[in-house]
Amino acid sequence: MPDNVSLAPPSLKLWKKFESEGTNAFRICTLSGAWIERLGADLLLSYQAESLLPELLAWCATLPALTGFVPERVFGRHLPVRNQERVSPVLLEGDAELPLFTTVTEAGVRFGLDFSAGYSAGLFLDQRHNRSWVRQNARGRFLNTFSYTCSFSVCAALAGAETLSIDLSRKSLSRGEANFVLNGLSPEKHRFFAADVRESFPRLARKGERFDTIILDPPTFSTSHTRGRFRVEDDMGELVQAALEVTAPRGRLLISTNCTRLGVRDLERICRMALKLRRLSGTFSPTLPPEDFPRGEGASCVWLQLSA
Ligand SMILES: C[S@@+](CC[C@H](N)C(=O)[O-])C[C@H]1O[C@@H](n2cnc3c(N)ncnc32)[C@H](O)[C@@H]1O
Repeated sequence: MPDNVSLAPPSLKLWKKFESEGTNAFRICTLSGAWIERLGADLLLSYQAESLLPELLAWCATLPALTGFVPERVFGRHLPVRNQERVSPVLLEGDAELPLFTTVTEAGVRFGLDFSAGYSAGLFLDQRHNRSWVRQNARGRFLNTFSYTCSFSVCAALAGAETLSIDLSRKSLSRGEANFVLNGLSPEKHRFFAADVRESFPRLARKGERFDTIILDPPTFSTSHTRGRFRVEDDMGELVQAALEVTAPRGRLLISTNCTRLGVRDLERICRMALKLRRLSGTFSPTLPPEDFPRGEGASCVWLQLSA
């Protein structure tokens, strides 16, 4: 094993805990400028510099003896400084003939991954606790904005909620529908809108639609043909205000971001201002940090529950 890393006993304990609860997608270790994730039968190595690769591969070679897990394939992904330079993972080890589409499980829930779909294969591991909360608590009407491959919607639908997923990308929504099917759910009984969330909120409000739970997890930056640029630091406040217009009394919102310049306190401040402008009140609950992510890594999130 390389000198500067070790699969310390707590990590091994965590590995076993994940496996026992039916989870095979998790971060295995985080090094300086790199990390390793297990994604079902495969491993994904993410690194800021190619020079870290030999060390990461050496680390992977120790896994079978430590955990009994023999990866089918090892993929590598360069972490560029600029988002525009992001590319799909490349196959480093394993059979190139195997399909790039695969499935993983999280607490028994199945999600499709596609290693050829771009930088992200289809599931954000740092949202595991929030998906678990949704899986256990979502009831009534559930709105998943910036839904990507609809992992939150699948969990809500499994809990019995009626879901609406909104994303700019029709392709991501189709993958979301496939995730419903993977879990024995009928996509026909749920709604999927390919639209800009900023346009959808006022439309839903005009129609009188109200939701018991809303997920608001926008990207740090995006652009759309109809509404132009979205920058989370500038636009989160307006987004929260628009979401509050369609939140049912005592409804809950998850506000989340991967923007490193916005922490939990910033999100709470943005929400307080939005509540004030909408003459509403609510309480915040912290979210548990993911057990497999070092402190400070992963999304910053808060749950806001509206008062009656
Ligand atoms: C960070 S991902 C969301 C991850 C998702 N919450 C999850 O946990 O799987 C961002 C998503 O927002 C979508 N998106 C970006 N700008 C958008 C917009 N203005 N309206 C709707 N969707 C948008 C992208 O297509 C992408 O799927």
